Amino acid sequence: MNNIAKGFFITAIIYGLLGMLLGLEMAISQNHGQMPTHAHTMVIGWLSFSLFGFYYFQFGSSVR
Ligand code: HEM
Ligand code: HEM
Repeated sequence: MNNIAKGFFITAIIYGLLGMLLGLEMAISQNHGQMPTHAHTMVIGWLSFSLFGFYYFQFGSSVR
């Protein structure tokens, strides 16, 4: 796996874990005030970065 793909995947996993922790915290405290923070941590940090990682894994990069 090239370095850019690996970097995106590792970053996605970190955002995913942190975003899920924030979701759990919101659910347990029943205070959904950080919902936009949670939503974007998940959709940008986890979903989009996973997709970018998959792209670079499939198609590679000129930077290695
Ligand atoms: C441990 C796992 C998770 C927990 C405990 C959790 C918890 C929550 C809670 C409490 C809300 C607020 C709901 C509301 O106020 O209407 C929320 C919203 C949201 N979550 Fe999660 N979540 C989790 C995982 C995820 C994942 C994996 C994703 C996406 C990949 C995600 C995406 C979203 C989005 C986009 C919203 C906003 C929904 C809206 O616009 O109403 N969450 N989540
Ligand atoms: C850097 C790029 C982005 C910016 C600046 C941005 C900004 C915003 C803003 C200002 C809101 C309204 C939040 C509120 O009502 O308080 C919002 C809501 C939302 N956005 Fe984004 N967004 C971005 C990227 C994305 C992406 C890539 C996705 C999905 C793949 C997404 C999914 C959502 C969803 C599901 C909501 C409704 C949930 C919520 O209110 O938090 N956003 N976004």
